[in-house]
Amino acid sequence: MKPQYIPEYNDDNRQSLPEKLLFPVRAVNKGKLEKAVIGKCILITGASYGIGFMLSTILSHYKVSLVLVARTADRLKQLEENSKDRPCKLYTFITDLRDEKQIDSLLQNLSDLELKIDIFISNAGKSIYRELFASVNRFHDTQRCAATNYTGPVQLLLGILPRIKEQKGQIINISALNVLLPPAAGWSAYQSSKAAFDQWLRCAEPELRNKNIYVSSIYLPLVRTRMSMINEKKHHQPAMSKSKAVNVILRCIINKKRKYRPWWSGIPVFFDTLFPNLWYRIQLRNLSKRK
Ligand SMILES: NC(=O)c1ccc[n+]([C@@H]2O[C@H](COP(=O)([O-])OP(=O)(O)OC[C@H]3O[C@@H](n4cnc5c(N)ncnc54)[C@H](OP(=O)(O)O)[C@@H]3O)[C@@H](O)[C@H]2O)c1
Repeated sequence: MKPQYIPEYNDDNRQSLPEKLLFPVRAVNKGKLEKAVIGKCILITGASYGIGFMLSTILSHYKVSLVLVARTADRLKQLEENSKDRPCKLYTFITDLRDEKQIDSLLQNLSDLELKIDIFISNAGKSIYRELFASVNRFHDTQRCAATNYTGPVQLLLGILPRIKEQKGQIINISALNVLLPPAAGWSAYQSSKAAFDQWLRCAEPELRNKNIYVSSIYLPLVRTRMSMINEKKHHQPAMSKSKAVNVILRCIINKKRKYRPWWSGIPVFFDTLFPNLWYRIQLRNLSKRK
């Protein structure tokens, strides 16, 4: 299973006025961040592109051990090159989270290196938008999303859990706001897999907290990365910048907040509770217009 090489999406992290109002994110206090991460070992999946790449780059300026996981060797190499003169220690692993054997071998490597994991950031993700009747011969879409967004992260997390427990560490899940919102047509494969891992982790959270492990679930709105911008319809929609998404994660490392979601996310949920069929009918009307 070879990765699809979609190039990195670069923008200047611009935010229009509506985007500033919709996605206000406070800057990160560098002193507090340093205190929170210094000497720690941080495992980040999906470090090769987008949010994970920027997050890894920022953390590489601190005295930390970074365990970076992704499939694209060149991009991991680039991170290694960029970090040469920085105080971090980097361990990169080319691993496909859809492949049980590759995860087993990653776990073996981590164990051989005797790495203690203080913070696990489950960031790797695969998104797909495809209408149902265009998916009839594409069961693999659902399998790939499920393995990347749900079963792979569960396998990895179960394997490193004893180390996280030993360190009284933190687990941060980079989830999607859509899993909290009423479901949307065309997103079955992606949303169900993101929702599955979110639910899995929320079920586990009391047990984890009982063992002094912090859990943070970050429900990101649309963020301008190659994942979302591959869909041209999204280009003109309000979106959070990559750097703001990274700041949300860094702030969660500092303050161990249990949840992040945009301030307005309760509004659609409120309307859906008041008018449970409204969103469904809007979608039906839109689909019938397209017939
Ligand atoms: N962008 C958005 O609008 C948005 C919104 C809500 C939530 N999110 C979430 O944010 C997270 C980061 O996404 P992004 O926007 O930064 O997307 P991105 O730029 O496409 O990055 C995705 C990362 O996941 C890695 N990945 C994908 N499949 C993998 C696999 N099978 N095994 C190992 N690594 C894999 C990719 O690396 P390789 O290809 O090198 O393996 C890449 O580093 C995802 O969990 C996504 O669901 C994004």
